[in-house]
Amino acid sequence: MSTPKTELILAIDQGTTSSRALVLDCQLNVLGRGQHEFEQVFLNDSWVEHCPHDIWQSTLQACKDAIAASGFQAHDLTCIGITNQRETTLVWDKITGEPIYNAIVWQDRRTAGYCQQLKGGNHEALVQERTGLLLDPYFSATKIHWILEHVEGARERAERGELCFGTVDSYLLWRFTQGKVHKTDASNASRTLLMNLQTRQWDPELLALFSIPVSMLPEICDNAHDFGVTAPDLLGAAIPIQGMVGDQQSALLGQGCIQPGQGKSTYGTGCFMLVNSGDQPILSRNKLLSTLAWQHQGQAVYALEGSIFMAGAIVQWLRDKLGIIQQARETESLAQGVPWDQSERLIPAFTGLGAPYWEPNARAALVGMTRDTGKQQIAAAALRSVAYQTLDLLQAMEDDGQHIHQLKVDGGMTENAWFLQALADMSQRTILRADSPEITIRGAAFLAGLQAWLFSQLADIHALSEYDQGFTAKLDHAQRQQLYQRWLADVSKVR
Ligand code: G3P
Repeated sequence: MSTPKTELILAIDQGTTSSRALVLDCQLNVLGRGQHEFEQVFLNDSWVEHCPHDIWQSTLQACKDAIAASGFQAHDLTCIGITNQRETTLVWDKITGEPIYNAIVWQDRRTAGYCQQLKGGNHEALVQERTGLLLDPYFSATKIHWILEHVEGARERAERGELCFGTVDSYLLWRFTQGKVHKTDASNASRTLLMNLQTRQWDPELLALFSIPVSMLPEICDNAHDFGVTAPDLLGAAIPIQGMVGDQQSALLGQGCIQPGQGKSTYGTGCFMLVNSGDQPILSRNKLLSTLAWQHQGQAVYALEGSIFMAGAIVQWLRDKLGIIQQARETESLAQGVPWDQSERLIPAFTGLGAPYWEPNARAALVGMTRDTGKQQIAAAALRSVAYQTLDLLQAMEDDGQHIHQLKVDGGMTENAWFLQALADMSQRTILRADSPEITIRGAAFLAGLQAWLFSQLADIHALSEYDQGFTAKLDHAQRQQLYQRWLADVSKVR
């Protein structure tokens, strides 16, 4: 009797600072992993770019490494799921596949002036009503517009139908299928400022507003879908790509938040809090974003999102620019014993402020330093700034009618128990840390598995999620109120 074939999923997480791949079995156990970091191109104060070649090569290499580490071969893989940094914008030639400019990263603020101009023209209400988003450089449309305006000949080529736009999911799909497929998924499309959140199609009025020809845009598909098949020479076999999803939506699914009212917060480069809002988007009155969580068999599930641009990236700044730590985890021991009412505060508007402020031109400040200030105090202030920002989001969510009692968290920073205690103290909520460090990538793996019939329904994700012990608040409520008021006053000074 022959042994049954093990069904395996290759899941890719193309993130802001590295590309990762995992080979997983049907219980989402990790059998092999690969990861490659790549260069961040920082220019002109607030520009952030990635070389498209780096995005592709690091992804391909991570996949090869994960397959090799798993002990299986490419032809053993059932399907591929892709999740990715969202909003990051690529434009390439339809025939040659050659990008015409570097990828403009979601953190890039170069289009702040253009956004201001559009706001001045009273376009924000239309944009918010159609897309659930705001006029901020964060999203793709103004980045596409910038490329068409600034790369020689780009606009003419786009008008002639010679160029393709894609977020990273779409670009990887194009590369994996060697130019055969130009598609995206509804969650990534919802981050472009061009997708109508109700119809889940490109909106002609928005395309006209941003002067973007529709011929550049990929087809919008369900998140679990037969997107295409990898060219056999790339990984050693033709493997179907059957799931694609933006990384934060992927983490929402990976955390098992499939019921309305369930939410999570991911602490990666930035911090992204998403709450499932069911089959209708919530039009925020508090500058949060409405976004598409996932679309399955044509049915949309929406989420309310608060996006903060700097979380783990603040710790990177401590390491790479201040040099006060060698490794991120050192912040945990450094911060021990620094009292909550420390005089030092960091307002981390390094790349402007995201939700709920949306101030692209704000810049960071470290205030309240004394002769006693050392690296301990700076590390504590840095970690606490993420806790304060999280409370900003929770308050805005609450004002929009979404009360989160327990916050499920994941992402690199959640390895730091001191930070999670600070989060519990400031939010006055129970913080539940996911048992697996692979929450984000599990969402994409699950969607691919769903399309490949390895899972039968979305609810199957529940059986696959676990949490370790929770963190509960120890800080006195009145002191917390006082500290939070001080934070709000600090923020108002950098706006
Ligand atoms: O919206 C930006 C987000 O998708 C980036 O995620 O994990 O690469 O920081 P990450």
